[in-house]
Amino acid sequence: MAVTSRFDLIGKVALITGSSRGIGESMALDFSAAGAEVIVTGRKLQAAEAVVDKVRQSGGQATAYAYDATLQGEPEALAENIRRDLGRLDILVNNAAILRPHTVEKLSYEEFEEIFTVNTRAAVFLSKACFPLLKESEAAAVVNIAAAGAHRPLGGIGAYCASKAAIINFTNTLAREWAPTGIRVNALTPGSVATDMILPTDPERREKFEKDMAGQNLMNRLADPIEIAQAVRFLVSPAASFITGQTLVADGGYLA
Ligand SMILES: NC(=O)c1ccc[n+]([C@@H]2O[C@H](COP(=O)([O-])OP(=O)(O)OC[C@H]3O[C@@H](n4cnc5c(N)ncnc54)[C@H](OP(=O)(O)O)[C@@H]3O)[C@@H](O)[C@H]2O)c1
Repeated sequence: MAVTSRFDLIGKVALITGSSRGIGESMALDFSAAGAEVIVTGRKLQAAEAVVDKVRQSGGQATAYAYDATLQGEPEALAENIRRDLGRLDILVNNAAILRPHTVEKLSYEEFEEIFTVNTRAAVFLSKACFPLLKESEAAAVVNIAAAGAHRPLGGIGAYCASKAAIINFTNTLAREWAPTGIRVNALTPGSVATDMILPTDPERREKFEKDMAGQNLMNRLADPIEIAQAVRFLVSPAASFITGQTLVADGGYLA
């Protein structure tokens, strides 16, 4: 077998939540370039369809679904739609998340619940809903996207950091429970990545912010979303066939 084939995703069907933009969109394009058929989701179908168009323009296969992680029943409905329309699933990336910057002093019950619902609860219940499909795959893999704040909490985004710490913990529960079925479950921790999630929209503030954030890691820059997508692709590829219950950190040395 050629070395490169262990890193490709030919013949796989991959669901990436929150792939209407940012890191998720990069994963959709990168996984597709590696041979996977990708399932793109965003809260609005139109946004997901725009990414599907990009995948198709570069010769790949993709399907779009609207998916709102705040709603109970959405994980189950998404898994049912995938079974009906595609009939298989090999890869699940729980990527959709929200960041609401507030100190504990200003944190509300509603905000805390929203963050944990999107970032933690939905990832757990979507994994559960996809389990029957993943079990039918010969070599299924799940990746939960965490954050550096799960390892080293930051003031001002405590609920976000805790929701990501919880998903790392749950990653290892799933890895243990699902190992007998052959499903590998890992987490990936990105450092600061140039996306809407963290970048201010105002150009002047953005420039200063990028400079400040870049100075916090050893590479002295923010990551391009593709650098995270490629690290996740490794984890879901056959090249990582003996890796489960781990958290891979792609943070430019921030946590070093
Ligand atoms: N950017 C960073 O510096 C950074 C650092 C560490 C970790 N991460 C993690 O990396 C992942 C991707 O982040 P990103 O920077 O690409 O974020 P982003 O640009 O803000 O994109 C977030 C994605 O999540 C989706 N989403 C938001 N709320 C949702 C909901 N209620 N239900 C379903 N989907 C929802 C968005 O879809 P809509 O089109 O519906 O809005 C969008 O596709 C997240 O897990 C994030 O925590 C990011």
